[in-house]
Amino acid sequence: MQLTVNGETYDTTGCAPAQTLLRFLRTRAGLCGTKEGCASGDCGACTVLIARPGEAPRSVNSCITLLGSVAGEHVITVEGLAGSDGPGRHPVQAAMVDCHGSQCGFCTPGFVMSLAGLYAEGGRGDHAIREAISGNLCRCTGYRPILEAGRRMYDYPPAPVVPESGAPAADANHAEALPAGYYRPRHEDALQAILREHPGAWLVAGGTDAVLEITQQYAAPDPIIDVSAVAELCTVEEAGDALRIGAAVPYSTLEHCLAALSPPLVAMLERLGSRQIRNRGTLGGNLAGGSPIADMPPVLLAWDATVEIAGADGRRRDVPVEDFHRGYRDTVLGAGEYVAAVRLPRASLSRPHRIFKLSKRFEDDISTVLLALSLELAGDRVGEARVAYGGMAATPLRAATVEGVLTAATLDDRTIERACSAAAEAFTPIDDVRASAAYRSAMAAALLRRALLELREARDLGIDAVEPLHA
Ligand SMILES: Cc1cc2nc3c(=O)[nH]c(=O)nc-3n(C[C@H](O)[C@H](O)[C@H](O)COP(=O)(O)OP(=O)(O)OC[C@H]3O[C@@H](n4cnc5c(N)ncnc54)[C@H](O)[C@@H]3O)c2cc1C
Ligand code: FES
Ligand code: FES
Repeated sequence: MQLTVNGETYDTTGCAPAQTLLRFLRTRAGLCGTKEGCASGDCGACTVLIARPGEAPRSVNSCITLLGSVAGEHVITVEGLAGSDGPGRHPVQAAMVDCHGSQCGFCTPGFVMSLAGLYAEGGRGDHAIREAISGNLCRCTGYRPILEAGRRMYDYPPAPVVPESGAPAADANHAEALPAGYYRPRHEDALQAILREHPGAWLVAGGTDAVLEITQQYAAPDPIIDVSAVAELCTVEEAGDALRIGAAVPYSTLEHCLAALSPPLVAMLERLGSRQIRNRGTLGGNLAGGSPIADMPPVLLAWDATVEIAGADGRRRDVPVEDFHRGYRDTVLGAGEYVAAVRLPRASLSRPHRIFKLSKRFEDDISTVLLALSLELAGDRVGEARVAYGGMAATPLRAATVEGVLTAATLDDRTIERACSAAAEAFTPIDDVRASAAYRSAMAAALLRRALLELREARDLGIDAVEPLHA
């Protein structure tokens, strides 16, 4: 296999399928500018850019990116940024120096690469800068000088991010270009054939969850089947009265596709992981992981979504999302089965809804409690109500008692308080490092109160969708 890094081709012969990009860059390519901090996607010290022809480069955490998953793409590390002002300094690097954005310097290459990704998109403004660096931690600067560098990076002579010589390698998704034992099929029929041939293989999409088993538990899976390039799993399309989202569509794409349809979801997605995580993490991986604190399942429950499951034998079945989770980290996926897509009914998307997430760190943190609420409102009465929570039980769940209080009721103060009392008592959550059971129950009620008050106010003002405030 060959890999293109900073415009140069590297031979990756002999690399194991579980080899991470970061390990390769530091130990085989000798590019030690990219740092290892946490090896779990949390600190951003390992940030690099991945460039595809015709697309703006995307920032990723190289510590949890598998080498095989970037075959055929062009990796840009801090050593490869093209300069504009003299000895190879990219405008972001020049701005970081001039704004004193670096002290001990360990985090600096990661911040530079995240800002270089923003620069390549032409993103401007404090919101965009904060969003771009939300997955990068610095223990020295207090962030103000780094934010200032993000503001000033356009003041320098412009520079391209991708070096001129950086044409990506020829179609390296072909089997011969991948590490032995790493499969990255392009179509579902090929995926199914590989699943039949290797029934015990490790399945991976963006790897933002799965690869932590390699970096934290020292797992060495072989073989690995990567679904992230399967064309049928990477599309968003109309499917009758539903929007069909392929399981391998990354969140960054989803944010664009759903921007007009669901501002509340897009606001929540801005807090799902970091920009690096959203550039790789997928809806299918979020569901299949079966976590009770995954952010998307409560939303899919509130929207009455359907999960399309396919098998190695080509058989397909539809499962309502309510029936998808069987228990803690346990789903209905059988041997050889994978999530192909999720269908969102158009009618659900157009209903008033709210999605609120509580977490200890505002961005790049798993939920403590997440509420997704969808209401059918006819005048001052509620028609159907769907209320779903994450973080309250061993699986994401609907709150049947709360829905019972709301359905066919007048949306007045008394109904709202009754619904909140029902929410506080609907579950028996656990105490853990994130929160106490009592806090979770109190927040289940508080988030619901806020959602109902906002939706009632929007209705009274005759507004279809008000921009949600951040939870
Ligand atoms: C720093 C950090 C922050 C995070 N923050 C959040 C957060 O705020 N909210 C949140 O919900 N999650 C968060 N996560 C978890 C993770 O990013 C998400 O769950 C993401 O959606 C996983 O998608 P993926 O494509 O990376 O899955 P992968 O890691 O590739 O796979 C996860 C699991 O799903 C399986 N799988 C993947 N795709 C399929 C498929 N199509 N069919 C069947 N099985 C499949 C894999 O075998 C594996 O068991 C975070 C992770 C990190 C490292
Ligand atoms: S080393 Fe911390 S995010 Fe990769
Ligand atoms: S400059 Fe020291 S960690 Fe950021």
